[in-house]
Amino acid sequence: LYIGVDLGTSAVKLLLMDETGDIKNIVSKEYPLFFPHPGWSEQNPEDWFEKSMEGIKELTEGFDRSKVAGISFGGQMHGLVALDKDDQVIRPAILWNDGRTGEETDYLNNVIGKDKLSQYTANIAFAGFTAPKILWMKKHEPENFAKIVKIMLPKDYLAYKLSGSFCTDVSDASGMLLMDVKNRCWSKEMMDICGITEEMLPKLYESYEVVGTLKEDVAGALGLSADVKVIAGAGDNAAAAVGTGTVGDGMCNISLGTSGTIFISSEKFGVDENNALHSFAHADGNYHLMGCMLSAASCNKWWMEDILKTKEFAKEQEGITKLGENNVFYLPYLMGERSPHNNPDARAMFIGMSMDTTREDMTQAVLEGVAFGLRDSLEVARSLGIQIERTKICGGGAKSPLWKKIIANVMNLKVDVIESEEGPALGGAMLAAVGCGEYPDVKTIAEKIVKVVDTVEPEEELVRKYEEKYQKFRKIYPTVKCLY
Ligand code: XUL
Repeated sequence: LYIGVDLGTSAVKLLLMDETGDIKNIVSKEYPLFFPHPGWSEQNPEDWFEKSMEGIKELTEGFDRSKVAGISFGGQMHGLVALDKDDQVIRPAILWNDGRTGEETDYLNNVIGKDKLSQYTANIAFAGFTAPKILWMKKHEPENFAKIVKIMLPKDYLAYKLSGSFCTDVSDASGMLLMDVKNRCWSKEMMDICGITEEMLPKLYESYEVVGTLKEDVAGALGLSADVKVIAGAGDNAAAAVGTGTVGDGMCNISLGTSGTIFISSEKFGVDENNALHSFAHADGNYHLMGCMLSAASCNKWWMEDILKTKEFAKEQEGITKLGENNVFYLPYLMGERSPHNNPDARAMFIGMSMDTTREDMTQAVLEGVAFGLRDSLEVARSLGIQIERTKICGGGAKSPLWKKIIANVMNLKVDVIESEEGPALGGAMLAAVGCGEYPDVKTIAEKIVKVVDTVEPEEELVRKYEEKYQKFRKIYPTVKCLY
């Protein structure tokens, strides 16, 4: 048995998989997310560990725990976790969707320069990346900065607490802006720019490599054997790509989680000269390009739960019948936007309401706005000559048939639906299986166990209507940008 841990932003999801790829159990545990200032986003690493421990116990309850051979992760990316000399968390983790580092991002992009950053890391700075957060801490919390002994990413904190191994993997580390992505090693130049040393950074592994075994006390508390292997794991998007079989050249996966991402796997290293898409290492030993929206399914959650005060997401979508004919537009920038705008100050808005606008029109606009936002990144990929005709899909938003239909038609892509939409948790379990030697490599396990069960085909007439709408949508942000 293998355990996959998806350390998400709203909850940790744990998945138990057997060696044939059968999902035996799934458990989810929520923890709080704090917004201490507008645009800031933080979580307590201790909550992640506590809930993961609770979750693993519950997950394995009633199963033969001695059969658990490995555990691995897909983790929310970019978050800054800093530990002091006693391994205590110095301050709450600053998350991937935190926009406080506008100044540091500008410094990196404009004073150090985008060309240099790209040469050192294959990427430019975005507010959510880890390096600008280190600079922010250095400037705004010098007493905390002085205490830093270890810097790690969210899932690496779990691996450290479980195994004692101070480690990370190349896919997740790509998003720190501290790693030379092409050569899969830390960048000396970036460490100097941030005022940190290599001892403060975890050891780099490939995602499927073993980093250690469970600590005795942890194994005891979980009722598992201390021989259980801990495998490095991946950033949640790379893990999701594994879980949807997005490995090899030119495959695509869309994740509709708190964030929305479009992930294009590649066997060759490549950089987007527009600097809109991230160029990161993949969990299969290769590379990928990725566009990331900071608010995707979270836009719908906000609209449903916070504004309409309902949890009946599916019911609210039942009344939506006018696809391609909505006159309401929604800009999905609740937390600013990463790809392609790179603007932490951008904000969401509805545009185009009239006296006959209905609740359904606005709900539809939210779903469409996210699809248009993803299309923005797809257009960048298309401008690089990358041809994509189909995509996999995962994440909570992928449960909605309507949203999948909107995505297929807005993006003019065939959307392949996988048996399980548990991308990162399943990918984590699959990486554990590879690390334990059950499968020779990531590609083989993906080919063996990931099954496409349905395909949502774009429809010519709807694609045409959405093309017109998209051309309008893309004019809105440049027009309203001056308001932010
Ligand atoms: C990717 C990103 C998000 C988080 C979500 O660059 O920031 O997708 O990984 O957990």
